Amino acid sequence: MANVLITGGAGYVGAVVSGAFLDAGHRVTVLDSLVDGGYGLLGYVPHERFRFLPGDVRDARAVGPALAGQDAIVHLAAVVGFGACNADPFRATSVNVDGTRCLLDARHPGQALLYASTGSVYGAVPGGLCHEGTEPAPLSVYGRTKLTAERMVLQTRDAVAFRFATAFGMSPRMRTDLLVNDFVYSAKRRGVIVVYERASRRTFIHVRDMARAFLFGLEHLAGMAGEVYNAGAERLNLTKDEIAHLILARHPFFLTYGPIGIDEDRRDYQVSYAKLQGLGYDTTVEIEQGIDELLRGVDLLPPP
Ligand SMILES: NC(=O)c1ccc[n+]([C@@H]2O[C@H](COP(=O)([O-])OP(=O)(O)OC[C@H]3O[C@@H](n4cnc5c(N)ncnc54)[C@H](O)[C@@H]3O)[C@@H](O)[C@H]2O)c1
Repeated sequence: MANVLITGGAGYVGAVVSGAFLDAGHRVTVLDSLVDGGYGLLGYVPHERFRFLPGDVRDARAVGPALAGQDAIVHLAAVVGFGACNADPFRATSVNVDGTRCLLDARHPGQALLYASTGSVYGAVPGGLCHEGTEPAPLSVYGRTKLTAERMVLQTRDAVAFRFATAFGMSPRMRTDLLVNDFVYSAKRRGVIVVYERASRRTFIHVRDMARAFLFGLEHLAGMAGEVYNAGAERLNLTKDEIAHLILARHPFFLTYGPIGIDEDRRDYQVSYAKLQGLGYDTTVEIEQGIDELLRGVDLLPPP
């Protein structure tokens, strides 16, 4: 059993990671400033190995006590996605970069650090398969701030960074702005999906497989430390149109296309996951399973 601090643990990914670490027998402390509330953690409150600390990852007075006695840190707290970062670039830099620095400054020697980076650090990749050796060229504030923090993290000992694909699937703290979740929500609740950049090839990972990647990183820290790993699966590299048709095969809705937006991270790439798979990690939830789960789950969500 390890003592694990999860920053940003009240968020979409964090609410699932917290449950997975509790299920694996660990003692979990969540530090979160509750930007979007904390209801995703309510189910864990009765658990004797769960503790919540309200606080900002940029505040040394909150981070110091949260780090006391921890064996490992899963660092998720961030302003997430190009939209949220563009809405307040100063806050994005402050949380994503300065918050990470605050955590690193207060971290004790020997505390493992597992960092949630993102495929958005790659930017527009010209052709071919993108791997960890591909030079990152982030195009958005989100991608740039996450890359800066990733590099800071990897300059320290006992640290691993995962460049995650776009998450999908149900979480106790749901996000319906992520592509697959958004498409399923729109198909089921509005009866229509309008797809822009339909041929863009994206890459996905189920949120429970993100949690499994952190557990894998903790277990295999000695062999993984100091490096970055793409986390996802090549069979989950799919175009937006392919996702829409997988949903259409399960649930009727009106599928249409139009230039209603652009992806500022210009994500249109195929990503190689061979490095992490070579160590023995693979994802377990296929896109079809995730879509089926979302089709059942979106009925439970409040109106937007
Ligand atoms: N969701 C994805 O598809 C995805 C993909 C790749 C990487 N990631 C990374 O995973 C992490 C979690 O993403 P998510 O989708 O759960 O986002 P989210 O917005 O749902 O969760 C972020 C959490 O961080 C908290 N937070 C924000 N600022 C904070 C601060 N200053 N101090 C303390 N807590 C703060 C928020 O309250 C929230 O609970 C992020 O680091 C993100 O970059 C996510």
